[in-house]
Amino acid sequence: MHTPTPSALRVEGLGLQIGGATILKDVNLDIAEGAIVGVIGPNGAGKTTLFNTISGLMTPTSGSVHMHGTDITKTSVPARARAGLGRTFQTSSYFPGLTVLENVRLAAQVAEGGNYSLFRFPSPGDAATKRAHETLEVVGLDHKDFTKAGDISHGDKRKLEIAVLLVTDAKLVLLDEPMAGVASGDVAGLLQNITDMQREKQCTVLMVEHHIDVLLGFVDMVAVMHFGTIIAYDTPSEIMNNPTVQSAYLGTAA
Ligand SMILES: Nc1ncnc2c1ncn2[C@@H]1O[C@H](COP(=O)(O)OP(=O)(O)O)[C@@H](O)[C@H]1O
Ligand SMILES: [Mg+2]
Repeated sequence: MHTPTPSALRVEGLGLQIGGATILKDVNLDIAEGAIVGVIGPNGAGKTTLFNTISGLMTPTSGSVHMHGTDITKTSVPARARAGLGRTFQTSSYFPGLTVLENVRLAAQVAEGGNYSLFRFPSPGDAATKRAHETLEVVGLDHKDFTKAGDISHGDKRKLEIAVLLVTDAKLVLLDEPMAGVASGDVAGLLQNITDMQREKQCTVLMVEHHIDVLLGFVDMVAVMHFGTIIAYDTPSEIMNNPTVQSAYLGTAA
């Protein structure tokens, strides 16, 4: 018998009103486990807001969010994280006073189920440190291990934030413009590293990215947002040939 791929994320009839404004309207998505999905759409389309409702930072006015078959619409942000949901933000978040390696090691310790403690003396050989260093290699930051996170370039801070997310065992990963501020020559290589690692871990990824030409080469599916709703969800080649998408978005893209 044919067994359909279980869904990692199912969003049903999601709506969000703020004041009198409709920010999200009847958003429907069903994303198969292990898929890497690009989310595209013009500025203000609602991409970040959709991520906020999926991760629990904003409460939808209507509809539901299911992760791996469980309704998480009313689940707290920390509980969603414990259930395997990870995300990055459009702007970087990290501990500027800690070194690059310490930032990633902290996240690795959490993933290892160890103490979330800076005071545990890190030894070069411990599992969390080793894992942190390997992840920094994936994002090309291993040469900055001992630099304070506050002192690295903007693009490197994005890489650090991605490393922090990659080192955890998140099963569903939301990346909001992970390449913002990364030098354009680095974008394809970094995307390749991220997607290779995610495929190896078999986790599901949703990624908002403005480098569409690059993005289309790495993702399995593309969700197109426009005016607070998903107007198309298809493979990259179908999306490029979709006349609705072209007139709503690609044709008017700057
Ligand atoms: N907290 C908020 N209050 C009011 N309006 C908001 C809020 N957050 C986002 N919006 C509005 O929702 C729309 C979608 O924003 P956003 O999700 O950031 O779009 P995108 O990430 O696609 O650029 C925009 O018009 C934005 O001004
Ligand atoms: Mg945004």
